[in-house]
Amino acid sequence: MVCTRKTKTLVSTCVILSGMTNIICLLYVGWVTNYIASVYVRGQEPAPDKKLEEDKGDTLKIIERLDHLENVIKQHIQEAPAKPEEAEAEPFTDSSLFAHWGQELSPEGRRMALKQFQYYGYNAYLSDRLPLDRPLPDLRPSGCRNLSFPASLPEVSIVFIFVNEALSVLLRSIHSAMERTPSHLLKEIILVDDNSSNEELKEKLTEYVDKVNGQKPGFIKVVRHSKQEGLIRSRVSGWRAATAPVVALFDAHVEFNVGWAEPVLTRIKENRKRIISPSFDNIKYDNFEIEEYPLAAQGFDWELWCRYLNPPKAWWKLENSTAPIRSPALIGCFIVDRQYFQEIGLLDEGMEVYGGENVELGIRWPLKS
Ligand SMILES: *[C@@H]1O[C@H](CO)[C@@H](O)[C@H](O)[C@H]1NC(C)=O
Ligand SMILES: *[C@@H]1O[C@H](CO)[C@@H](O)[C@H](O)[C@H]1NC(C)=O
Ligand SMILES: *[C@@H]1O[C@H](CO)[C@@H](O)[C@H](O)[C@H]1NC(C)=O
Repeated sequence: MVCTRKTKTLVSTCVILSGMTNIICLLYVGWVTNYIASVYVRGQEPAPDKKLEEDKGDTLKIIERLDHLENVIKQHIQEAPAKPEEAEAEPFTDSSLFAHWGQELSPEGRRMALKQFQYYGYNAYLSDRLPLDRPLPDLRPSGCRNLSFPASLPEVSIVFIFVNEALSVLLRSIHSAMERTPSHLLKEIILVDDNSSNEELKEKLTEYVDKVNGQKPGFIKVVRHSKQEGLIRSRVSGWRAATAPVVALFDAHVEFNVGWAEPVLTRIKENRKRIISPSFDNIKYDNFEIEEYPLAAQGFDWELWCRYLNPPKAWWKLENSTAPIRSPALIGCFIVDRQYFQEIGLLDEGMEVYGGENVELGIRWPLKS
C-alpha cells in the first residue's frame, strides 16, 4: 500500500502539553500498552547495555503509570453518572481526584471540585485558581537550546477547537500560545466553538477576546457553530478561517512551551509537504503538574487507535535527540501548510467523531494531481 504522499514528522524539539480528559485517558492506555510492547521488542535486539538499562527503567515507569491510569479509569466509570443522593454523603475521599490533590480543601471546596471534575473530566476547580501565565519546565532535549533556525520563517495561525471546555483551560491555551510563540510568527488565533452550551464560554470569553483585540485588532477570531459539527468539521472550520501560510490545529486544553514554533516552521519551510506533530508531555488531570513523556513516533494499531511508538531504528542511529522522528500517523494536533492541506483534500468532513483523523492522512491513497 502506498501511504506516503506526504512526509509526516514528529518534531522532537518542542514541547506542547496536552491536557487529559477521561476520554483521552482511555485512549492513552492504548498508547502506553503499545509502548511497553515496543520497548520489549527493542530490548530483544542487540543494543548497547546502557540503552537496555534505560529501556528497563522506562518500561517500569510506564507500567506504573499504566496501573495508575487503570485505576483512574475505573474510578471515572464508577463515578459517572453522579447520582444526586451521593452528593449528600461524604463520598469525596473515594474520588481519584483527591488521591494526590485537595486533602486540605473544606468539604464545600471538595464538593465544588468534584462537581467540576465530573463535568469537565479534569480538575477545572484547580485550573481556575492557577495563573494563566504559570511557568512550565523546559523539557526539551538539551541540544534543542543550541539549535539555530532561519531568520525568516512563515507565519502561523493557531486554531483551537472546543466544546464546553473549562474557560480557564481554554484561556491558558491561548495565553501560552501568545506568550511562547515569537510575535512576528503568530499571525492570529482562531477559536472554534462547536456549539458549547456552557455560559462561561459566551460573555466571559468574548470579554477576553475583546480585550486582546483592543490591543491587536482582529488578532483573535471566533467561529461559533450554530449546531454541533464534531471534532473533524471543527478543525476544518478553523482552517477555513485561517489566513497565515501555515495552520496549526490544536485542541483547547494545551499549554505551549518555549521554542515550540521555530523547529516546526523550519521543517515546513524546508518542505511544504511535511505535516508536523509536536512532541507532547502530559498535564496531569488532577493536580495539573507536568509529566514528561519519552520522545516517541506516532502511529496506530489494527483497530486504528493512535499509539505512541518507539522511534524507528534510523532515528536511534543518528544519536541526535533533537532530530525529527518520522511517523506513520499523527495524533489529532498538527501543523500544516495551509494551501497544501487543501491540495490533499483536508480532513474527511464526513467523519462524525474523533479518532479517524489520527490515521486518515497516513492511510490515504495519493491523489492524482
Ligand atoms: C550548547 O552550546 C554551548 C555554548 O556554545 C556549549 O557549551 C554546550 O556544550 C552546548 N550544549 C549542547 C547540548 O550541545
Ligand atoms: C446549538 O445547536 C442548536 C441546534 O442544534 C441550536 O438550537 C442552538 O442555538 C445552538 N447553540 C449555540 C450556542 O449556537
Ligand atoms: C541533530 O538534528 C538537528 C535537527 O535536525 C540538526 O539541526 C543538527 O545538525 C543535528 N546534529 C548533528 C550533530 O547531526
